[in-house]
Amino acid sequence: MKPTTSAPPTRKDGHHLFQQVYEHIMGRMERGELKTHEKLPSVRSIALDLQVHRLTAFRAYQMLKQNGKVYVKDKSGYYVSPTPSSDLKEEANSNSELPELPANQPIPAYAHLRNELFHVQQIPVTYQLAQALIDPNLLPNLFLSEHVKQVFDKYPKVMGTYGPVSGDEELREFLCGYIAKSLNIPLAANEVVITSGSQQAIDLLARVFIRAMDPILVERPTYSAALEIFRNQGARIFAVDIGPNGYDLDQVEMMLKQHKPRFFYTNPTFHNPTGYTVPASQRKRLVELAAQYRCLIIEDDAFRDMYFEEPPPRPMFVYDTDGWVVYLRSFSKYIAPGLRICAVIGRKSVIEPLLIAKSLADNGTPLLNQKIFLHYFQSERMQQHVAKLRTALQLRRDIAEQELAAASDWKWVQPAGGLNLWVKLPPALSVQGLLAESLRQSISFVPGVICDPLSERNDFIRISYCFINESQLREGIKRLVRTRV
Ligand SMILES: Cc1ncc(COP(=O)(O)O)c(C=O)c1O
Repeated sequence: MKPTTSAPPTRKDGHHLFQQVYEHIMGRMERGELKTHEKLPSVRSIALDLQVHRLTAFRAYQMLKQNGKVYVKDKSGYYVSPTPSSDLKEEANSNSELPELPANQPIPAYAHLRNELFHVQQIPVTYQLAQALIDPNLLPNLFLSEHVKQVFDKYPKVMGTYGPVSGDEELREFLCGYIAKSLNIPLAANEVVITSGSQQAIDLLARVFIRAMDPILVERPTYSAALEIFRNQGARIFAVDIGPNGYDLDQVEMMLKQHKPRFFYTNPTFHNPTGYTVPASQRKRLVELAAQYRCLIIEDDAFRDMYFEEPPPRPMFVYDTDGWVVYLRSFSKYIAPGLRICAVIGRKSVIEPLLIAKSLADNGTPLLNQKIFLHYFQSERMQQHVAKLRTALQLRRDIAEQELAAASDWKWVQPAGGLNLWVKLPPALSVQGLLAESLRQSISFVPGVICDPLSERNDFIRISYCFINESQLREGIKRLVRTRV
């Protein structure tokens, strides 16, 4: 299996220092410190500067040349190649160089920060099939607003202070008890940290565990925002396939053995984007493998409570006795996404550095959100809400499937929970073409390639059936399957 990282796309194993030199030069070019047609420092001087061997620097320069980032002038050296955007500027300004920033201009941001999912989801459309979020109309909004008033009455000073970095004591105690009871495992409140959604937990764990060029393991496909976080952190990304029956455990073991990843980021229950669930029989074995190969498992369990018939298998976390699994239990999706509450559960070796990262990021999740969540979560109303929500989501899944059936050559596996359908398109249908044409008709979906750590799979799309109402969903998918490219 090929690894991928943020750059460069052509590299094969990424173990080497020369790739860091490559990244460094790319960064300088992206920030405009090295301008189009400007001469790069000589191999000798960059090697001295970065304290690497001259051959390492030479290899990085060769790769820059190969990838068209620089060109060579005989006996003179390496020069920055023009890019499409600098070409446009050239046309506009008759000036091949980026204009000098006046001294009072802000520092240009790094261009490497990407979030493809964010871009797709930002496009305003009527038939929104790209957002894996629950229709706000399905949440008990009126009850929530009455409830907020009660919380203020109970904690009049709630906005007047910071909460603890690890999270509100009362909430941590409560969630500790709730999770310990529902999973039937021993747990202590000091093993629980509250973060602002699981998105923040993934980001903090990436900061804690990844240094540039560190190997990590993800599923293929995977949650694309997590992928971008890991890329931005400079990880070398390896992937194992996830299918309707989980993983090929031999492949997982081979990856662990060969690449020694720092962690394996998994979303084994109603997985995003596929909706697949890793069977119970594999979960225990995965924890054994993690211990054997000393690889932390990050188990992202954002959709556990959104099952349609049977509750899903117990999390991998329950099989862990020695601290090889860190468990992310987000309540953000189905309770009140706006509150952004997630419990991160792990042993001391994870919790301690996580708290440092959390203190640097935001000094603690807002106390008000935590108090509102705590009291709402404990209410009887919440239990009724979740039961109703499951039925409503199942109904939407069924509607989506009924309408998709009109496209006889589109294939998917029925998810038993979660928010998404992972649909395979026939080879002749271009996903990019379909997306462009769909957007013209005010329909959006997620092109599967952005969930692929190898950025190769161009034959899948992710359809989220939970954000728009039933009639819009029916109409949106009807139109989507009729779209001609
Ligand atoms: C697998 C997965 N993990 C994490 C998140 C982020 O969720 P949260 O709202 O808890 O930050 C999402 C959101 O779609 C997701 O699909």
